[in-house]
Amino acid sequence: MDDLSTGDTLLATGLSKQYGGVFVLTGVDFTINRGRVTGLIGENGAGKSTLSSIIAGIKRPDGGAMTIGGHPYRPADPLDALSRGVAIIHQEIKMIPELSVAENIFLGRMPTRRGAVDYPSMYEQAGTVLRELGVRVDPRRPVAGLVTATQQEIEIARAIVRRPSFIIFDEPSATLGSKETERVLEQIEHMRANGSGVVYISHRLDEIARIADDIVCLRDGRKVAQWAGADVDRNEMIHAMVGRELAQRDIDPPAHDDDVVLEVRGLSSERFADIDFHVRRGEIVGLSGLVGAGRTEIVRALSGADKCTRGEVVVDGQIARIHSVRDAIRSGIVMVPEDRKTQGLNLDRCAGENMTLPWERQLAKSGLITYSVIRATRDRMARELEIRGDLDAPAGLLSGGNQQKVLLGKWLVRTPKVLILDEPTRGVDVGAKEAIYTIIRSLAASGVAIIVVSSELDEVLLLSHRVIVIAGGRQTGSLDRSEATPERVMQLSVPSGRASTAHK
Ligand SMILES: Nc1ncnc2c1ncn2[C@@H]1O[C@H](COP(=O)(O)OP(=O)(O)OP(=O)(O)O)[C@@H](O)[C@H]1O
Ligand SMILES: [Mg+2]
Repeated sequence: MDDLSTGDTLLATGLSKQYGGVFVLTGVDFTINRGRVTGLIGENGAGKSTLSSIIAGIKRPDGGAMTIGGHPYRPADPLDALSRGVAIIHQEIKMIPELSVAENIFLGRMPTRRGAVDYPSMYEQAGTVLRELGVRVDPRRPVAGLVTATQQEIEIARAIVRRPSFIIFDEPSATLGSKETERVLEQIEHMRANGSGVVYISHRLDEIARIADDIVCLRDGRKVAQWAGADVDRNEMIHAMVGRELAQRDIDPPAHDDDVVLEVRGLSSERFADIDFHVRRGEIVGLSGLVGAGRTEIVRALSGADKCTRGEVVVDGQIARIHSVRDAIRSGIVMVPEDRKTQGLNLDRCAGENMTLPWERQLAKSGLITYSVIRATRDRMARELEIRGDLDAPAGLLSGGNQQKVLLGKWLVRTPKVLILDEPTRGVDVGAKEAIYTIIRSLAASGVAIIVVSSELDEVLLLSHRVIVIAGGRQTGSLDRSEATPERVMQLSVPSGRASTAHK
Protein backbone atom coordinates (compact mmCIF):
# COMPACT_ATOMS: atom_id res chain seq x y z
CA MET A 1 0.00 0.00 0.00
CA ASP A 2 2.85 2.35 0.72
CA ASP A 3 4.39 1.57 -2.62
CA LEU A 4 4.54 5.10 -4.00
CA SER A 5 6.36 3.93 -7.11
CA THR A 6 2.94 3.53 -8.67
CA GLY A 7 2.62 7.29 -8.49
CA ASP A 8 0.22 9.57 -6.69
CA THR A 9 -1.90 10.52 -9.65
CA LEU A 10 -3.91 8.67 -12.25
CA LEU A 11 -4.42 11.03 -15.14
CA ALA A 12 -6.82 10.45 -18.02
CA THR A 13 -6.85 12.85 -20.96
CA GLY A 14 -9.26 13.13 -23.83
CA LEU A 15 -10.98 9.79 -23.25
CA SER A 16 -13.56 8.90 -25.87
CA LYS A 17 -15.78 5.87 -26.38
CA GLN A 18 -18.31 5.13 -29.07
CA TYR A 19 -20.76 2.37 -29.86
CA GLY A 20 -21.79 2.05 -33.48
CA GLY A 21 -20.79 5.61 -34.22
CA VAL A 22 -22.58 7.10 -31.21
CA PHE A 23 -20.22 8.73 -28.75
CA VAL A 24 -21.05 7.95 -25.13
CA LEU A 25 -17.83 9.60 -23.93
CA THR A 26 -16.23 12.56 -25.66
CA GLY A 27 -12.82 14.01 -24.80
CA VAL A 28 -13.07 13.55 -21.04
CA ASP A 29 -10.16 14.63 -18.84
CA PHE A 30 -10.20 13.05 -15.41
CA THR A 31 -7.77 12.93 -12.50
CA ILE A 32 -7.66 10.69 -9.45
CA ASN A 33 -5.31 11.78 -6.68
CA ARG A 34 -4.18 9.50 -3.89
CA GLY A 35 -5.47 10.67 -0.54
CA ARG A 36 -8.50 12.36 -2.12
CA VAL A 37 -12.05 11.37 -2.96
CA THR A 38 -13.48 12.49 -6.30
CA GLY A 39 -17.26 12.46 -6.51
CA LEU A 40 -18.55 11.62 -9.99
CA ILE A 41 -22.11 12.70 -10.79
CA GLY A 42 -24.38 12.82 -13.82
CA GLU A 43 -27.76 11.69 -15.10
CA ASN A 44 -28.52 8.09 -16.07
CA GLY A 45 -26.59 7.32 -19.22
CA ALA A 46 -24.21 10.28 -18.82
CA GLY A 47 -21.20 7.96 -19.09
CA LYS A 48 -20.08 7.48 -15.48
CA SER A 49 -19.88 3.68 -15.62
CA THR A 50 -18.26 3.81 -19.05
CA LEU A 51 -15.54 6.15 -17.78
CA SER A 52 -15.03 3.94 -14.72
CA SER A 53 -14.86 0.79 -16.84
CA ILE A 54 -12.17 2.31 -19.03
CA ILE A 55 -10.08 3.33 -16.04
CA ALA A 56 -10.49 -0.13 -14.50
CA GLY A 57 -9.50 -1.96 -17.68
CA ILE A 58 -12.94 -3.42 -18.42
CA LYS A 59 -13.47 -1.39 -21.59
CA ARG A 60 -10.96 0.07 -24.04
CA PRO A 61 -11.22 3.72 -24.98
CA ASP A 62 -11.47 4.71 -28.65
CA GLY A 63 -9.41 7.81 -28.00
CA GLY A 64 -7.34 9.46 -25.30
CA ALA A 65 -4.64 8.22 -22.98
CA MET A 66 -4.00 7.47 -19.32
CA THR A 67 -0.94 7.65 -17.10
CA ILE A 68 -0.15 6.67 -13.52
CA GLY A 69 2.60 8.72 -11.93
CA GLY A 70 3.55 9.93 -15.41
CA HIS A 71 3.98 6.41 -16.80
CA PRO A 72 1.68 5.17 -19.56
CA TYR A 73 -1.26 3.16 -18.25
CA ARG A 74 -3.09 1.01 -20.81
CA PRO A 75 -4.80 -1.81 -18.91
CA ALA A 76 -5.53 -4.84 -21.09
CA ASP A 77 -8.10 -6.21 -18.65
CA PRO A 78 -9.23 -5.76 -15.04
CA LEU A 79 -6.47 -8.02 -13.71
CA ASP A 80 -3.88 -5.92 -15.49
CA ALA A 81 -5.46 -2.81 -13.94
CA LEU A 82 -5.34 -4.44 -10.51
CA SER A 83 -1.64 -5.18 -10.94
CA ARG A 84 -1.16 -1.42 -11.39
CA GLY A 85 -3.20 -0.79 -8.25
CA VAL A 86 -6.53 0.14 -9.86
CA ALA A 87 -9.71 -1.54 -8.58
CA ILE A 88 -13.44 -1.08 -9.19
CA ILE A 89 -16.58 -1.95 -7.32
CA HIS A 90 -19.25 -2.55 -9.91
CA GLN A 91 -22.67 -1.04 -10.10
CA GLU A 92 -23.93 -4.49 -11.00
CA ILE A 93 -22.82 -7.20 -8.64
CA LYS A 94 -20.73 -9.88 -10.29
CA MET A 95 -20.21 -12.83 -8.01
CA ILE A 96 -20.02 -16.58 -8.34
CA PRO A 97 -22.99 -17.75 -6.28
CA GLU A 98 -21.79 -21.32 -5.72
CA LEU A 99 -18.49 -20.22 -4.20
CA SER A 100 -18.15 -19.24 -0.58
CA VAL A 101 -18.09 -15.64 0.59
CA ALA A 102 -14.34 -15.93 1.28
CA GLU A 103 -13.61 -17.51 -2.10
CA ASN A 104 -15.43 -14.70 -3.84
CA ILE A 105 -13.48 -12.13 -1.85
CA PHE A 106 -10.12 -13.70 -2.72
CA LEU A 107 -11.02 -14.83 -6.24
CA GLY A 108 -7.88 -14.94 -8.38
CA ARG A 109 -5.52 -14.47 -5.46
CA MET A 110 -6.38 -17.04 -2.80
CA PRO A 111 -3.69 -17.45 -0.16
CA THR A 112 -1.75 -20.67 -0.68
CA ARG A 113 0.41 -22.87 1.42
CA ARG A 114 2.68 -25.50 -0.12
CA GLY A 115 0.91 -25.10 -3.43
CA ALA A 116 -2.63 -25.59 -2.11
CA VAL A 117 -5.26 -23.03 -1.16
CA ASP A 118 -4.83 -22.17 2.51
CA TYR A 119 -8.48 -22.24 3.52
CA PRO A 120 -8.05 -21.51 7.25
CA SER A 121 -5.99 -18.42 6.45
CA MET A 122 -8.41 -17.33 3.75
CA TYR A 123 -11.42 -17.64 6.07
CA GLU A 124 -9.59 -15.73 8.76
CA GLN A 125 -8.53 -12.89 6.48
CA ALA A 126 -12.03 -12.70 4.98
CA GLY A 127 -13.49 -12.64 8.48
CA THR A 128 -11.25 -9.73 9.42
CA VAL A 129 -12.13 -7.53 6.48
CA LEU A 130 -15.85 -8.31 6.83
CA ARG A 131 -15.68 -7.35 10.50
CA GLU A 132 -13.95 -4.09 9.57
CA LEU A 133 -16.86 -3.40 7.25
CA GLY A 134 -19.31 -4.40 9.96
CA VAL A 135 -20.82 -7.19 7.83
CA ARG A 136 -22.18 -10.13 9.77
CA VAL A 137 -21.88 -13.12 7.48
CA ASP A 138 -20.07 -16.44 7.73
CA PRO A 139 -17.12 -16.38 5.26
CA ARG A 140 -17.59 -20.13 4.70
CA ARG A 141 -21.15 -19.99 3.42
CA PRO A 142 -21.95 -19.72 -0.30
CA VAL A 143 -22.89 -16.35 -1.71
CA ALA A 144 -26.08 -17.79 -3.21
CA GLY A 145 -29.10 -16.79 -1.16
CA LEU A 146 -27.59 -13.70 0.42
CA VAL A 147 -29.60 -10.50 0.05
CA THR A 148 -28.40 -7.92 -2.46
CA ALA A 149 -27.13 -5.50 0.18
CA THR A 150 -24.86 -8.15 1.71
CA GLN A 151 -23.56 -9.17 -1.70
CA GLN A 152 -22.73 -5.56 -2.39
CA GLU A 153 -20.76 -5.39 0.87
CA ILE A 154 -18.87 -8.55 -0.08
CA GLU A 155 -18.06 -6.94 -3.42
CA ILE A 156 -16.60 -4.03 -1.47
CA ALA A 157 -14.60 -6.36 0.77
CA ARG A 158 -13.21 -8.02 -2.36
CA ALA A 159 -11.82 -4.71 -3.62
CA ILE A 160 -10.49 -3.66 -0.24
CA VAL A 161 -8.39 -6.78 0.37
CA ARG A 162 -6.44 -5.92 -2.76
CA ARG A 163 -5.24 -2.70 -1.08
CA PRO A 164 -5.58 -0.66 -4.27
CA SER A 165 -3.91 2.72 -4.84
CA PHE A 166 -6.91 3.85 -6.86
CA ILE A 167 -10.42 2.56 -6.32
CA ILE A 168 -13.71 3.34 -8.02
CA PHE A 169 -17.03 2.83 -6.24
CA ASP A 170 -19.72 2.74 -8.94
CA GLU A 171 -22.93 3.49 -7.05
CA PRO A 172 -22.42 1.13 -4.15
CA SER A 173 -25.12 2.80 -2.07
CA ALA A 174 -27.87 2.15 -4.61
CA THR A 175 -28.43 -1.29 -3.10
CA LEU A 176 -27.63 -0.38 0.50
CA GLY A 177 -29.65 0.94 3.40
CA SER A 178 -28.59 4.00 5.38
CA LYS A 179 -26.65 2.02 7.97
CA GLU A 180 -24.70 0.04 5.37
CA THR A 181 -24.07 3.18 3.36
CA GLU A 182 -22.71 4.85 6.47
CA ARG A 183 -20.24 1.98 6.90
CA VAL A 184 -19.14 2.24 3.28
CA LEU A 185 -18.57 5.96 3.63
CA GLU A 186 -16.54 5.33 6.77
CA GLN A 187 -14.52 2.72 4.92
CA ILE A 188 -13.84 5.22 2.14
CA GLU A 189 -12.66 7.79 4.68
CA HIS A 190 -10.41 5.12 6.10
CA MET A 191 -8.98 4.27 2.67
CA ARG A 192 -8.43 7.93 1.90
CA ALA A 193 -6.54 8.38 5.17
CA ASN A 194 -4.37 5.41 4.16
CA GLY A 195 -3.50 7.09 0.90
CA SER A 196 -5.90 5.56 -1.63
CA GLY A 197 -7.35 7.71 -4.37
CA VAL A 198 -11.09 7.10 -4.47
CA VAL A 199 -13.77 7.79 -7.08
CA TYR A 200 -17.28 7.75 -5.64
CA ILE A 201 -20.31 7.60 -7.94
CA SER A 202 -23.76 8.21 -6.50
CA HIS A 203 -27.09 9.78 -7.34
CA ARG A 204 -27.45 10.74 -3.68
CA LEU A 205 -25.96 14.19 -3.68
CA ASP A 206 -25.83 14.45 0.10
CA GLU A 207 -23.41 11.51 0.11
CA ILE A 208 -21.30 13.22 -2.55
CA ALA A 209 -21.28 16.48 -0.60
CA ARG A 210 -20.23 14.66 2.52
CA ILE A 211 -17.45 12.45 1.17
CA ALA A 212 -15.96 14.18 -1.87
CA ASP A 213 -12.90 16.42 -1.92
CA ASP A 214 -13.48 17.16 -5.59
CA ILE A 215 -16.56 16.73 -7.76
CA VAL A 216 -16.81 16.08 -11.50
CA CYS A 217 -20.06 16.17 -13.45
CA LEU A 218 -20.68 14.40 -16.77
CA ARG A 219 -23.54 15.13 -19.11
CA ASP A 220 -24.07 13.28 -22.42
CA GLY A 221 -20.54 11.91 -22.24
CA ARG A 222 -18.80 15.24 -21.71
CA LYS A 223 -17.35 16.79 -18.62
CA VAL A 224 -19.57 19.80 -18.00
CA ALA A 225 -18.46 20.90 -14.55
CA GLN A 226 -15.72 20.34 -12.04
CA TRP A 227 -15.36 21.68 -8.54
CA ALA A 228 -12.25 21.55 -6.40
CA GLY A 229 -13.36 21.20 -2.82
CA ALA A 230 -16.75 19.81 -2.05
CA ASP A 231 -18.31 23.08 -0.97
CA VAL A 232 -20.86 22.98 -3.76
CA ASP A 233 -24.48 23.87 -3.47
CA ARG A 234 -26.86 20.98 -4.17
CA ASN A 235 -28.82 23.01 -6.70
CA GLU A 236 -25.62 23.86 -8.52
CA MET A 237 -24.85 20.14 -8.85
CA ILE A 238 -28.36 19.38 -10.10
CA HIS A 239 -28.15 22.20 -12.58
CA ALA A 240 -24.89 20.85 -13.99
CA MET A 241 -26.36 17.34 -14.22
CA VAL A 242 -29.63 18.08 -15.93
CA GLY A 243 -28.86 21.45 -17.49
CA ARG A 244 -31.88 23.10 -15.93
CA GLU A 245 -33.32 24.02 -12.56
CA LEU A 246 -35.12 21.29 -10.69
CA ALA A 247 -36.91 22.50 -7.63
CA GLN A 248 -37.07 20.14 -4.66
CA ARG A 249 -40.75 19.92 -4.05
CA ASP A 250 -42.57 18.64 -1.04
CA ILE A 251 -45.82 17.43 -2.51
CA ASP A 252 -48.54 15.72 -0.52
CA PRO A 253 -49.95 12.57 -2.06
CA PRO A 254 -53.39 12.95 -3.69
CA ALA A 255 -56.43 12.24 -1.51
CA HIS A 256 -57.51 8.60 -1.37
CA ASP A 257 -60.87 6.82 -1.08
CA ASP A 258 -62.13 4.97 1.98
CA ASP A 259 -62.82 1.58 0.48
CA VAL A 260 -60.18 -1.01 1.12
CA VAL A 261 -58.63 -2.69 -1.92
CA LEU A 262 -56.01 -4.88 -0.27
CA GLU A 263 -56.25 -6.50 3.11
CA VAL A 264 -53.42 -8.53 4.57
CA ARG A 265 -54.40 -10.64 7.60
CA GLY A 266 -51.88 -12.40 9.80
CA LEU A 267 -49.49 -13.10 6.94
CA SER A 268 -46.58 -15.24 8.11
CA SER A 269 -43.65 -17.16 6.69
CA GLU A 270 -40.31 -18.38 7.93
CA ARG A 271 -38.97 -14.84 7.67
CA PHE A 272 -41.84 -12.78 9.09
CA ALA A 273 -44.94 -13.19 11.24
CA ASP A 274 -48.39 -11.72 11.84
CA ILE A 275 -48.38 -8.97 9.26
CA ASP A 276 -51.69 -7.11 9.27
CA PHE A 277 -52.47 -4.09 7.20
CA HIS A 278 -54.71 -2.74 4.51
CA VAL A 279 -54.40 -0.37 1.59
CA ARG A 280 -57.30 1.74 0.36
CA ARG A 281 -58.14 2.78 -3.17
CA GLY A 282 -55.64 5.46 -4.19
CA GLU A 283 -53.64 5.12 -1.01
CA ILE A 284 -49.85 4.95 -0.92
CA VAL A 285 -48.53 2.88 1.97
CA GLY A 286 -44.80 2.86 2.65
CA LEU A 287 -43.07 -0.17 4.16
CA SER A 288 -40.09 1.02 6.13
CA GLY A 289 -37.41 -0.77 8.11
CA LEU A 290 -33.73 -1.55 8.14
CA VAL A 291 -32.14 -3.75 5.51
CA GLY A 292 -32.93 -7.35 6.48
CA ALA A 293 -36.04 -6.40 8.48
CA GLY A 294 -38.21 -8.48 6.16
CA ARG A 295 -39.83 -5.84 3.96
CA THR A 296 -38.80 -7.44 0.68
CA GLU A 297 -39.82 -10.88 1.95
CA ILE A 298 -43.30 -9.60 2.81
CA VAL A 299 -43.92 -8.03 -0.57
CA ARG A 300 -42.46 -11.02 -2.36
CA ALA A 301 -45.00 -13.22 -0.58
CA LEU A 302 -47.82 -10.81 -1.49
CA SER A 303 -46.83 -10.92 -5.13
CA GLY A 304 -46.59 -14.71 -5.27
CA ALA A 305 -42.82 -14.81 -5.65
CA ASP A 306 -42.37 -16.54 -2.27
CA LYS A 307 -44.54 -18.87 -0.24
CA CYS A 308 -46.18 -17.94 3.03
CA THR A 309 -47.15 -20.35 5.75
CA ARG A 310 -50.16 -18.63 7.27
CA GLY A 311 -52.52 -15.72 6.75
CA GLU A 312 -54.87 -14.29 4.16
CA VAL A 313 -54.67 -11.81 1.33
CA VAL A 314 -57.94 -10.19 0.33
CA VAL A 315 -58.36 -8.12 -2.83
CA ASP A 316 -61.60 -6.17 -3.31
CA GLY A 317 -63.30 -8.30 -0.67
CA GLN A 318 -62.30 -11.62 -2.22
CA ILE A 319 -59.75 -13.95 -0.75
CA ALA A 320 -56.87 -14.22 -3.21
CA ARG A 321 -55.21 -17.59 -3.49
CA ILE A 322 -51.66 -16.69 -4.38
CA HIS A 323 -49.29 -19.52 -5.13
CA SER A 324 -47.41 -17.91 -7.99
CA VAL A 325 -46.70 -14.56 -9.58
CA ARG A 326 -49.30 -15.42 -12.19
CA ASP A 327 -51.93 -15.96 -9.47
CA ALA A 328 -51.08 -12.59 -7.99
CA ILE A 329 -51.37 -10.82 -11.31
CA ARG A 330 -54.72 -12.50 -11.89
CA SER A 331 -55.89 -11.15 -8.52
CA GLY A 332 -54.72 -7.69 -9.55
CA ILE A 333 -51.47 -7.56 -7.56
CA VAL A 334 -48.35 -6.64 -9.45
CA MET A 335 -44.85 -6.12 -8.08
CA VAL A 336 -41.83 -4.33 -9.47
CA PRO A 337 -38.99 -6.31 -7.83
CA GLU A 338 -35.83 -4.80 -6.37
CA ASP A 339 -33.35 -6.88 -8.32
CA ARG A 340 -33.69 -6.05 -11.99
CA LYS A 341 -31.01 -8.46 -13.11
CA THR A 342 -32.33 -11.75 -11.83
CA GLN A 343 -36.02 -11.08 -11.26
CA GLY A 344 -36.99 -8.32 -13.54
CA LEU A 345 -35.49 -7.99 -16.96
CA ASN A 346 -34.46 -10.23 -19.79
CA LEU A 347 -31.25 -8.41 -20.57
CA ASP A 348 -30.91 -10.00 -24.03
CA ARG A 349 -34.23 -8.65 -25.23
CA CYS A 350 -34.89 -5.05 -26.19
CA ALA A 351 -36.77 -2.60 -24.00
CA GLY A 352 -40.07 -2.94 -25.85
CA GLU A 353 -40.12 -6.72 -25.67
CA ASN A 354 -39.34 -6.60 -21.98
CA MET A 355 -42.23 -4.27 -21.33
CA THR A 356 -44.81 -6.18 -23.35
CA LEU A 357 -43.76 -9.69 -22.27
CA PRO A 358 -46.17 -10.05 -19.30
CA TRP A 359 -49.04 -8.53 -21.28
CA GLU A 360 -48.86 -10.43 -24.54
CA ARG A 361 -52.28 -11.95 -24.10
CA GLN A 362 -53.91 -8.60 -23.33
CA LEU A 363 -52.09 -6.65 -26.03
CA ALA A 364 -52.38 -9.21 -28.83
CA LYS A 365 -54.85 -8.25 -31.55
CA SER A 366 -55.70 -11.66 -32.96
CA GLY A 367 -53.61 -14.01 -30.91
CA LEU A 368 -50.30 -12.48 -31.92
CA ILE A 369 -48.55 -9.45 -30.56
CA THR A 370 -47.32 -7.28 -33.40
CA TYR A 371 -44.18 -5.23 -33.61
CA SER A 372 -46.19 -2.05 -33.96
CA VAL A 373 -47.93 -2.75 -30.63
CA ILE A 374 -44.57 -3.40 -29.00
CA ARG A 375 -43.18 -0.20 -30.46
CA ALA A 376 -46.18 1.93 -29.52
CA THR A 377 -46.09 0.63 -25.95
CA ARG A 378 -42.36 1.14 -25.73
CA ASP A 379 -42.57 4.68 -27.08
CA ARG A 380 -45.32 5.59 -24.64
CA MET A 381 -43.42 4.24 -21.63
CA ALA A 382 -40.14 5.77 -22.83
CA ARG A 383 -41.85 9.15 -23.04
CA GLU A 384 -43.57 8.88 -19.67
CA LEU A 385 -40.51 7.58 -17.86
CA GLU A 386 -37.85 9.51 -19.80
CA ILE A 387 -36.01 6.32 -20.78
CA ARG A 388 -32.82 7.18 -22.65
CA GLY A 389 -30.56 5.04 -24.82
CA ASP A 390 -30.99 2.70 -27.78
CA LEU A 391 -34.35 1.06 -27.18
CA ASP A 392 -33.86 -1.44 -30.01
CA ALA A 393 -30.67 -2.79 -28.46
CA PRO A 394 -30.69 -5.51 -25.77
CA ALA A 395 -31.79 -3.99 -22.44
CA GLY A 396 -28.50 -5.13 -20.90
CA LEU A 397 -26.70 -2.42 -22.85
CA LEU A 398 -28.74 0.40 -21.33
CA SER A 399 -27.22 2.28 -18.42
CA GLY A 400 -28.15 1.01 -14.95
CA GLY A 401 -30.73 3.70 -14.25
CA ASN A 402 -32.40 3.30 -17.61
CA GLN A 403 -32.74 -0.44 -17.04
CA GLN A 404 -34.56 0.45 -13.83
CA LYS A 405 -36.97 2.61 -15.79
CA VAL A 406 -37.65 -0.18 -18.31
CA LEU A 407 -38.43 -2.50 -15.42
CA LEU A 408 -40.86 0.00 -13.96
CA GLY A 409 -42.40 0.56 -17.38
CA LYS A 410 -42.95 -3.17 -17.78
CA TRP A 411 -45.41 -3.19 -14.90
CA LEU A 412 -47.13 0.03 -15.80
CA VAL A 413 -48.23 -1.04 -19.27
CA ARG A 414 -51.47 -2.23 -17.69
CA THR A 415 -52.94 -0.63 -14.60
CA PRO A 416 -53.15 -3.11 -11.69
CA LYS A 417 -55.42 -2.90 -8.63
CA VAL A 418 -52.47 -3.16 -6.27
CA LEU A 419 -49.01 -2.06 -7.30
CA ILE A 420 -46.03 -2.99 -5.16
CA LEU A 421 -42.83 -1.11 -5.79
CA ASP A 422 -39.67 -2.49 -4.19
CA GLU A 423 -36.96 0.19 -4.39
CA PRO A 424 -38.56 2.00 -7.34
CA THR A 425 -35.83 4.60 -7.76
CA ARG A 426 -32.74 2.54 -7.09
CA GLY A 427 -29.93 3.94 -9.21
CA VAL A 428 -32.20 6.48 -10.86
CA ASP A 429 -31.02 10.08 -11.32
CA VAL A 430 -32.65 13.11 -9.67
CA GLY A 431 -34.63 14.16 -12.73
CA ALA A 432 -36.03 10.70 -13.41
CA LYS A 433 -36.73 10.26 -9.72
CA GLU A 434 -39.10 13.23 -9.81
CA ALA A 435 -40.70 11.70 -12.91
CA ILE A 436 -41.21 8.37 -11.13
CA TYR A 437 -42.70 10.11 -8.08
CA THR A 438 -45.13 11.94 -10.34
CA ILE A 439 -46.13 8.65 -11.98
CA ILE A 440 -46.68 6.98 -8.60
CA ARG A 441 -48.88 9.86 -7.47
CA SER A 442 -50.93 9.85 -10.64
CA LEU A 443 -51.41 6.08 -10.44
CA ALA A 444 -52.68 6.58 -6.91
CA ALA A 445 -54.95 9.39 -8.11
CA SER A 446 -56.40 6.99 -10.67
CA GLY A 447 -57.33 4.57 -7.87
CA VAL A 448 -54.44 2.10 -7.69
CA ALA A 449 -53.56 0.93 -4.18
CA ILE A 450 -49.81 1.29 -3.84
CA ILE A 451 -47.18 -0.20 -1.56
CA VAL A 452 -43.71 1.34 -1.66
CA VAL A 453 -40.64 -0.29 -0.16
CA SER A 454 -37.54 1.87 -0.07
CA SER A 455 -34.38 1.99 1.96
CA GLU A 456 -34.38 5.74 1.47
CA LEU A 457 -36.45 6.95 4.38
CA ASP A 458 -36.94 10.37 2.76
CA GLU A 459 -38.54 8.68 -0.20
CA VAL A 460 -40.99 6.69 1.93
CA LEU A 461 -41.93 9.76 3.94
CA LEU A 462 -42.36 11.94 0.87
CA LEU A 463 -44.60 9.49 -0.99
CA SER A 464 -46.73 7.76 1.63
CA HIS A 465 -50.09 8.48 3.21
CA ARG A 466 -49.16 5.96 5.86
CA VAL A 467 -45.94 4.24 6.88
CA ILE A 468 -45.82 0.70 8.26
CA VAL A 469 -42.62 -0.11 10.06
CA ILE A 470 -41.11 -3.60 10.03
CA ALA A 471 -38.36 -4.75 12.39
CA GLY A 472 -37.05 -8.28 12.73
CA GLY A 473 -39.90 -9.68 10.62
CA ARG A 474 -42.58 -8.09 12.82
CA GLN A 475 -44.83 -5.13 12.26
CA THR A 476 -43.78 -2.63 14.93
CA GLY A 477 -46.00 0.27 14.03
CA SER A 478 -48.24 2.11 11.61
CA LEU A 479 -47.86 5.86 11.35
CA ASP A 480 -50.04 8.38 9.54
CA ARG A 481 -48.31 10.90 7.33
CA SER A 482 -48.63 13.58 10.01
CA GLU A 483 -46.94 11.45 12.69
CA ALA A 484 -44.32 9.81 10.47
CA THR A 485 -41.18 11.73 11.32
CA PRO A 486 -37.75 10.25 10.60
CA GLU A 487 -37.12 9.93 14.37
CA ARG A 488 -40.39 8.08 15.00
CA VAL A 489 -39.78 5.66 12.12
CA MET A 490 -36.21 5.01 13.23
CA GLN A 491 -37.34 4.29 16.78
CA LEU A 492 -39.75 1.67 15.53
CA SER A 493 -37.17 0.26 13.10
CA VAL A 494 -34.73 -0.68 15.80
CA PRO A 495 -35.92 -3.82 17.55
CA SER A 496 -36.60 -3.03 21.22
CA GLY A 497 -33.71 -3.72 23.54
CA ARG A 498 -31.26 -2.33 21.04
CA ALA A 499 -33.02 1.02 20.94
CA SER A 500 -30.87 2.57 23.62
CA THR A 501 -27.55 1.70 21.96
CA ALA A 502 -28.79 3.09 18.66
CA HIS A 503 -28.83 6.59 20.11
CA LYS A 504 -25.18 6.65 21.06
N1 LIG B 1 -21.96 -2.11 -24.86
C1 LIG B 1 -22.69 -1.04 -25.17
N2 LIG B 1 -23.28 -0.89 -26.38
C2 LIG B 1 -24.00 0.18 -26.69
N3 LIG B 1 -24.24 1.20 -25.85
C3 LIG B 1 -23.70 1.13 -24.63
C4 LIG B 1 -22.90 0.01 -24.20
N4 LIG B 1 -22.50 0.22 -22.94
C5 LIG B 1 -23.02 1.42 -22.57
N5 LIG B 1 -23.74 1.97 -23.57
C6 LIG B 1 -24.43 3.28 -23.55
O1 LIG B 1 -23.53 4.26 -23.09
C7 LIG B 1 -24.24 5.30 -22.40
C8 LIG B 1 -23.54 5.60 -21.09
O2 LIG B 1 -23.79 4.54 -20.19
P1 LIG B 1 -23.18 4.46 -18.72
O3 LIG B 1 -23.51 3.11 -18.22
O4 LIG B 1 -21.77 4.87 -18.75
O5 LIG B 1 -24.05 5.57 -17.97
P2 LIG B 1 -24.04 5.98 -16.41
O6 LIG B 1 -23.67 7.42 -16.32
O7 LIG B 1 -23.23 5.02 -15.65
O8 LIG B 1 -25.58 5.86 -16.06
P3 LIG B 1 -26.34 5.30 -14.72
O9 LIG B 1 -26.44 6.44 -13.76
O10 LIG B 1 -27.70 4.94 -15.22
O11 LIG B 1 -25.58 4.13 -14.20
C9 LIG B 1 -25.67 4.82 -22.26
O12 LIG B 1 -26.47 5.47 -23.21
C10 LIG B 1 -25.57 3.32 -22.56
O13 LIG B 1 -26.76 2.85 -23.09
MG1 LIG C 1 -23.69 3.60 -14.22
